[in-house]
Amino acid sequence: MAEFSIDRFVDRYAARAAGMTASEVRALFAVASRPEVVSLAGGMPYVRALPGADVMEVARTVLAEHGDVALQYGGGQGSPGLRERLVMLMAAEGIVADPEDVVVATGAQQALDLLGKLFIDPGDVVAVEAPAYVGALTAFGAYQPRFLPIEIDDDGMLVDELEQALVRGERPKFVYTVPNFGNPTGVTMSAERRQHLVALCREASIPIVEDNPYGLLRFEGEPEACLRSLDPENVIYLGTVSKTFSPGVRVGWALAEQSVVQPLVLAKESADLCSSNLTMLMTEHWFSNDERWRGTLVGFVDTYRSRRDVMLEALDEHLGVDATWTRPRGGFYVWVTVPAWLDTKALLAAAVERRVAYVPGTAFYPDGRGANQMRLAFCYPTEDRIRDGIERLGSLVHDETELYRSLQG
Ligand SMILES: Cc1ncc(COP(=O)(O)O)c(C=O)c1O
Repeated sequence: MAEFSIDRFVDRYAARAAGMTASEVRALFAVASRPEVVSLAGGMPYVRALPGADVMEVARTVLAEHGDVALQYGGGQGSPGLRERLVMLMAAEGIVADPEDVVVATGAQQALDLLGKLFIDPGDVVAVEAPAYVGALTAFGAYQPRFLPIEIDDDGMLVDELEQALVRGERPKFVYTVPNFGNPTGVTMSAERRQHLVALCREASIPIVEDNPYGLLRFEGEPEACLRSLDPENVIYLGTVSKTFSPGVRVGWALAEQSVVQPLVLAKESADLCSSNLTMLMTEHWFSNDERWRGTLVGFVDTYRSRRDVMLEALDEHLGVDATWTRPRGGFYVWVTVPAWLDTKALLAAAVERRVAYVPGTAFYPDGRGANQMRLAFCYPTEDRIRDGIERLGSLVHDETELYRSLQG
């Protein structure tokens, strides 16, 4: 019934609501969540790797010892104790910060939305990587910008391309980037590109929004300097505990200059008054035990590294002749490019029928590109399931290739 109901409010919505469309592949994802389907689609952290008894103890302590505060409203900027912990977490990535410059948000996702609200008027230009994190495209998209897509390669954003766009007269309100183990590509921006981006944006007075959920999930190699540490005044930094602790607590944050912090807190208060005191306290307690959070992080990194290895091996074995892909040194994702004539969105139904799912590449571009690309996440399924999933995907791509060749004669 509901499918055919008429929307009584159809002429009442604001213009921006038109941009809030459900993904065309949403219905398929409901099917993809069936247990027989290996989903390489969602970027869900493997929370089973958390020590359950420790989490339980933290929750119990918070309620037993701080119940009056935990169950109450809090301040819009987030509790001072948690902000101090977050400063310590950022120090682990080489960022020097003051708790006064931190605004806690309901996940980094809310921080993206609040930044959109603060900075974007309809028609404003926002520079994004191509492909970009789909959640940022939807969060910013609600404020009706024009996206300026900047290509990436194995060394991250092509900063030269951004520079040329500025020479052409483009004036983005800000540049959004995920420089470490990016979503969806897994690619990391090189040191040289970081220096170039920071210098270019400083010169042009264009703020950078650096979104860094995956920086601590490094499998090998040395970390590159965060953009924020290269230019603290011009970079608004976003962090989250979703990948190092739990996405269920919904704790993310923005680190910015005081001039941005103040309107950001007002925007935060008008969105939801404050983040949850209960989960802020749990997060503060979790990260106050150095040995525990670092030990848990090592467990996460080991799990994801093994899963990455299994996925790359399986790709070599089953898609080697038909596709190319990125080789991430951390994070959750591999980005696969198949032959130009294959449409990954059209192919998804057949993939789900063969019990494997992925996210089609078009989801990550603001301009409809990416039809022959897909994002594979190795974070959630077990190694055996990743192997099975890639084998199924390989046989599908192989069969489609045979069919295409036979039709071409
Ligand atoms: C690049 C990027 N930014 C932000 C987020 C949202 O994180 P949070 O759970 O903190 O809202 C994600 C989640 O996958 C992400 O990949």
